[in-house]
Amino acid sequence: MTDGYRRRADGHEALELVVGGRKLRFPAVWLRDNCPCAQCVDPGSGQKFHDITDIPDELVITVTEQAEDVVEVIYAPGQHRSAFSRRWLAEHALDGYDDGDGRTEDDKQLWLPADLGQGPQASWPSYLAEPADRARTLDAVLRWGFVLLHDVPTEPGMVLEVAASFGFVRETNYGALFDVRVRPAPGNLAFTSRAILPHTDNPYRDPVPTVQLLHCLSTAEAGGDTGLVDGFAAAAALRAGDAEAFDVLTRTAVPFRYIDKETELRASQPLIQLSPRGRIRGVRFNNRSARPLRLPYAEVAAFYPAYRRWAELLARPERQLNLRLAAGDCLVFDNTRVLHARTAFSMTEGSPGSPGSSGSPGRHLQGCYADLDGLASTLAVLRRPGNHELKENRDRN
Ligand code: FE2
Repeated sequence: MTDGYRRRADGHEALELVVGGRKLRFPAVWLRDNCPCAQCVDPGSGQKFHDITDIPDELVITVTEQAEDVVEVIYAPGQHRSAFSRRWLAEHALDGYDDGDGRTEDDKQLWLPADLGQGPQASWPSYLAEPADRARTLDAVLRWGFVLLHDVPTEPGMVLEVAASFGFVRETNYGALFDVRVRPAPGNLAFTSRAILPHTDNPYRDPVPTVQLLHCLSTAEAGGDTGLVDGFAAAAALRAGDAEAFDVLTRTAVPFRYIDKETELRASQPLIQLSPRGRIRGVRFNNRSARPLRLPYAEVAAFYPAYRRWAELLARPERQLNLRLAAGDCLVFDNTRVLHARTAFSMTEGSPGSPGSSGSPGRHLQGCYADLDGLASTLAVLRRPGNHELKENRDRN
């Protein structure tokens, strides 16, 4: 046998079979671990009763019986018998490996603004009323990294309702929700009228909040536009153009930190994170909260040119989708992939932190965080077979 699977006098260490013209091969221990019988798996929850150490070390297959639909195997030692449907085996073929959780570049549509047209959008009332619309909206966040929801009532706190429509609000040191407007003594530059370059939020948290929502309650008279950059597309471009810089950024853990009176958060992670198979799976980028690298001299010296290349690439105007959020717009985006930015804006007289009081509210967003896995779960449940309303949506996608 090749690839390390040996044939022994008392049996085989792998099952080989042909399904639909495809040759499939499974190690004995893999089959035993995934035995679907009622002795091995709780029929209600689908959870396994056994632990991996319960499976004998030198397990082999002694008997294989193949019928039209079912393959039965008996193992030694132990004489346990497993029956697998051929269809299930084909669906779980080992060579069909992917990273499996839908989070890498392989499961995304990478974009430049020029590819997007209007970009993914939806309307809150129809999102609520139509499961197919809801599925399309949530799918957009997974596929494109963001969606713009219009017509969300401009009432304070609505951003929490949007988050609750697909998952759980991820409360942080900023509270369940945070107000993005000018504050008199800001602990974060977000709460000033300054321009903010493309960044991801909360890189000093581990895990970072994976979904961010920003709901616009009122706009600035001028400026305060929102920019979005597809960090996965930019990382793929860096890999194609400067593989060495890409490598450095995937290997170098950058320390991030946030400190205020009640909080002290720190996390160290590479700016580009890869899956175990080496595919792009996350980006962190936020120079405001990056702290001094304390690595060997050569690593620090190699990091800076790569960091600069990456920052220049992210700042290219052709990579940034510019949106002007209107009152009632709520942006929902993947904070592990899409960087967000905003232009400087004028201070309206009467807005908090500015003198005078003309009564105009000025730029006011409310934001909160949630989790991508919860969003993906809501979408998966919406798409379960039997949910006929969604068939059309599934086919279209
Ligand atoms: Fe931010």
